[in-house]
Parts: sequence; structure tokens; C-alpha cells
Amino acid sequence: MNKNILERDIKLIWHPFTQHKLAVAPIAITKAKGSYIYDESGKKYLDLISSWWVNLHGHCHPKISDAIYEQSKNLDHVMFAGLTHEPAIKLAESIKKVLPDHLKRFFYSDNGSTSTEIALKMAYQYWVNNGFEEKTLFLCFDGAYHGDTFGAMSVGKGSGYHNSFGKLLFDTLMIPYPATYINDSEIEEKEAYSLSILDEYLSLYESKISAFILEPIVQGASGMRYARPEFLNKILLKIKEKNIIIIFDEVMTGFGRLGTYFATDQLAVKPDIICMSKGISGGSLPLALTITTDQIFDGFLHDEWKYTFAHGHSYTANPIACAAGIASLEILLQDNTQHSIQKISNAHIDGCKLIQNKVSKIRHVGTIAAFEHANSLSISEKLIQKGYLIRPIRNVIYIIPPYSTTSDEIIEFYNIINHIL
Ligand SMILES: Cc1ncc(COP(=O)(O)O)c(C=O)c1O
Repeated sequence: MNKNILERDIKLIWHPFTQHKLAVAPIAITKAKGSYIYDESGKKYLDLISSWWVNLHGHCHPKISDAIYEQSKNLDHVMFAGLTHEPAIKLAESIKKVLPDHLKRFFYSDNGSTSTEIALKMAYQYWVNNGFEEKTLFLCFDGAYHGDTFGAMSVGKGSGYHNSFGKLLFDTLMIPYPATYINDSEIEEKEAYSLSILDEYLSLYESKISAFILEPIVQGASGMRYARPEFLNKILLKIKEKNIIIIFDEVMTGFGRLGTYFATDQLAVKPDIICMSKGISGGSLPLALTITTDQIFDGFLHDEWKYTFAHGHSYTANPIACAAGIASLEILLQDNTQHSIQKISNAHIDGCKLIQNKVSKIRHVGTIAAFEHANSLSISEKLIQKGYLIRPIRNVIYIIPPYSTTSDEIIEFYNIINHIL
């Protein structure tokens, strides 16, 4: 049966982020439970990348599965223009309680790329509605990744993932990203350089900049690159003083990944727009939110249609996904989940000490740990054979486990990788 799935796959399927000429056959997965996924032979793999960073509480969590089932019996889906429903409102109310007070208006969509695309469009149209049509520039960080739609790719040029589309992307001002790690002796210089480039951009282009978008504290897709909160505060303060809209892309960092509910909680300067997806439904169904202030929302209120935010997706605020989101957030807020997050964080500290002489550029924050090794690919192949699912980004090995993962499982992983190294 395994052969059957793979044979059928090879004839039909074009997988994401996959070079089909070189890729090895995918693993056919038939079941997922808790922190593990299972292939057809029954072999289990510890899902150390939370299935592309979406899974929070383990797979098929009974509370989330029940919420999905119950909701699907009552209201599956309706369009969200001209209609509304309890699950969408309740989820927004619940998320609002764990966000800074000024983030008050919730715009739903269904994946991370659209959540950032919406943020960019919202920021730009806010200025257009206020008579500033020339604000066509966006500030972003080198190495940033915000998704694969055209706006998201434009502000994510520095990730290297979108090079084929260079000529189609709009202009951005890219600030060097001072990625850092334990025992980084050059961090002060790198941060000073970034700040100086920002100053230059502001002196030349201030009046043309709509917004600054960033992945706060950790850049995910460019290799779990960490920036110090004190540096980000400095840069954000300068930008805030210039009245430029600040967008936090918390698609990866949200819902506890960094040890706090959101990365925002670890920064003094708060965003005007925040994007979330991935963990929002606990990793069960596609859903996203772009949340903003009353000031930005009010900038769209007008008697004339042209001021409207004319954007929407068929599956906006899908009630079943919202029900999963409500259940997932309830689990996240429980004390035992918060303790698990803390334990994972502590396990990374201990585990990284174990391998510190065999890898380079170690960084860890909350439930995420990353380090670098020239043989990352062969290391990951060996780990997968042993039942640990990781997926390095270039030479970066990172782990970002579901919160159901125990400290023992994480320490065992570090022991195994230590042995392989
Ligand atoms: C920070 C960030 N923003 C946006 C996205 C895009 O999300 P999606 O893959 O759901 O479109 C990702 C995906 O990895 C991400 O890490």
C-alpha cells in the first residue's frame, strides 16, 4: 500500500518547495497523534518542526477534533461579507484578550501569505485614503520571509526564495538584519550598521514610506535568525517617530512559540498591524488574521466605495477553522500548556550545552532552537531514519516542537544528534 501511495503521488502531485528532479520520495503519512506522525509501515517520527510550524498542542488533539466535529454539524461555511457568525466573533474576542489593547479590528483570511498581503495593502490604502498616494515604499529586513504572494514576495526579496520574480516585485528598502547567536562578538557592530542604514533611508525617503514589516525577534524561513529585542526596540522607535505604519508578521512567532503569547509581548514598541496564521487553529485547519487599530480602520470609513478595503477570500473566517482556533487558544491559556512551553525552553538550554562544541551559531528562544553545521542534510537524513523529523534550512538545523513534546523527548533528541555529530 505504501508503494501504491508513492506511485500515485509521483504521477500526479507537484509538492511545495520541492525540486522534483533531485528530491527523494516523500514519506507517506497515514496517521498523526500527539507529537508524532506515523508512516504506513507504522514507523513513528517525532514531529520536531510542528508540521511547518503550525502544530501547537500535538496532532489530533481531542479538544480541537471535537470542536471541529461539533461545528461542522451546525454551520460549515458561509461567505463573510454581509453575513457574520459566532465562531468568528468569539475567536476575535478571545485573541483580543491576549493582545495589546490598541489592536482592535480583526480581518480574517486563510493563510500566512494572505495575512501579510492584506497588511501591506491595508497600510498602503490607508495612506491613499488620506491623500498620500506617493507612499509606495516599504521598509523590510534582509532575510525576511513573509509568504509567496506578490506583495509578500516583494518585502521578502532578501530571503532568496523569490529570485525568479525579481522583475515583477515592487521596490522596497531593505535593512541589514543583525542576526545573532550565543557568544556573537560582532553583534554591536552589526546592529549599529543596521541602524545607520535605516537612518540613511529615513533621511532620503521618509515621506515615501508606507510601512515597515518584520518578523519580530525570529526570522523563520531564512533559518531561525534571532535579533535582540533591545535592538528591535531602537529601530522600531525611530520608525514610530516618523509616523510609518509598523507591521508585525507573527505568522510563525505567534501563539507561544517564543515563550510569550506573541513576540510583541517581549518588545516595548507595539505594532499598528499584526499578522497571524499557522498556530492560530492549533495546526488543524487553514486560518489567518490581520489585526489593526481603530485609527487605521477609521481611515477606510467613507460614503464613497473607493475608500473601501476591497479585499476578501472565499473561505474568509471559515466557522470550522474558527471553532478549532477557539479550542486551541483555550488549551494555550491553560497552566499546564504554559508549563510545557517553559519545560521545552529549559530542555533547549540543556540540550544546546550538550552539543555546543560540535555545532556553531547556537540560538534559542522559547520553544525554538537552531544551530549550524556544514553537514546539516546528512545529519537530518540520519535523524529521520531514527524517527526524528527535521528539515534543515541550508546549513541551519532547527527544532520547533509541538508543546505536547516532553523534556525527556527533547533531551533524547539532543543525545541522538550529539551521537551523530
Ligand atoms: C513569518 C511568515 N510569514 C508568512 C508566512 C507564509 O505563510 P503561509 O505558508 O501560510 O502562506 C510564513 C510561512 O512560513 C512565515 O513564516
